[in-house]
Amino acid sequence: MNKHILLTGASKGIGFETAKILAGKNCNITVISRSKEKLDLLSESYKRIHTIAVDITRPDAVPLIIKHLTANQIQLDGIIHNAGLLINKPFRDLTDQDWENQFAVNLLAPVRLTRELLPFLKNGSHILHISSMGGFQGSDKFPGLSAYSASKGALSILTECLAAELASDQIFVNCLCLGAAETEMLKQAFPGFKAPLTALEMGEYVANFVLNGHKFYNGKILPVALSNPV
Ligand SMILES: NC(=O)c1ccc[n+]([C@@H]2O[C@H](COP(=O)([O-])OP(=O)(O)OC[C@H]3O[C@@H](n4cnc5c(N)ncnc54)[C@H](OP(=O)(O)O)[C@@H]3O)[C@@H](O)[C@H]2O)c1
Repeated sequence: MNKHILLTGASKGIGFETAKILAGKNCNITVISRSKEKLDLLSESYKRIHTIAVDITRPDAVPLIIKHLTANQIQLDGIIHNAGLLINKPFRDLTDQDWENQFAVNLLAPVRLTRELLPFLKNGSHILHISSMGGFQGSDKFPGLSAYSASKGALSILTECLAAELASDQIFVNCLCLGAAETEMLKQAFPGFKAPLTALEMGEYVANFVLNGHKFYNGKILPVALSNPV
């Protein structure tokens, strides 16, 4: 039986590459992002990729996803919470709305999705949070990224909490704190910086990890970076 993975943030960057690699490994994938045209590029190339174009922070996002899973009788082997927003602004200029937007995408949407999709997760399934080195305790921190890093830090700790709580359901939960990979988001965070990894290389790591990482780890917050994080 082929695995079915739900992946948020698949229209570009790391998620786009992760989707293609999973499809190449004969997985079925439901991908979610706001940009329908970019998602269509994936589903036109891979019949294993189902697309849902929706903003994951909208109240109608979860009902839409549940409708899709129910109509297609899909039970999930994994969820990758990859969609992310990065607001790069000095702390003194960040508004309440900025903080709310930052946490809505990076924390509250994964919380809501996981909670509502629990009935669709098989025994032995893997929830994977895509965090950042900025959300890893003790790592170097950078000006302008306080809201982003705080939201990713919260997602990291949520991993440990959910792993403890969902263990009795045989659902595994892990978190990858990614270092730099060449994407639009990286350009926004560190203009001019050349990342050591392409989005494809990072996508390959993420795809392999969602399929196999939970055989080795549960409730772990793992740095995925060459530099010493502490
Ligand atoms: N690249 C890096 O160096 C790096 C480092 C550390 C961590 N990360 C993390 O890795 C993940 C992927 O990053 P990336 O660099 O590939 O970013 P990216 O190129 O900016 O892609 C972000 C993805 O998230 C989707 N997204 C954003 N807001 C959304 C919303 N409200 N609803 C649905 N989808 C939404 C975007 O699609 P639409 O715009 O079409 O909605 C896009 O597909 C993020 O969580 C990021 O924080 C990246």
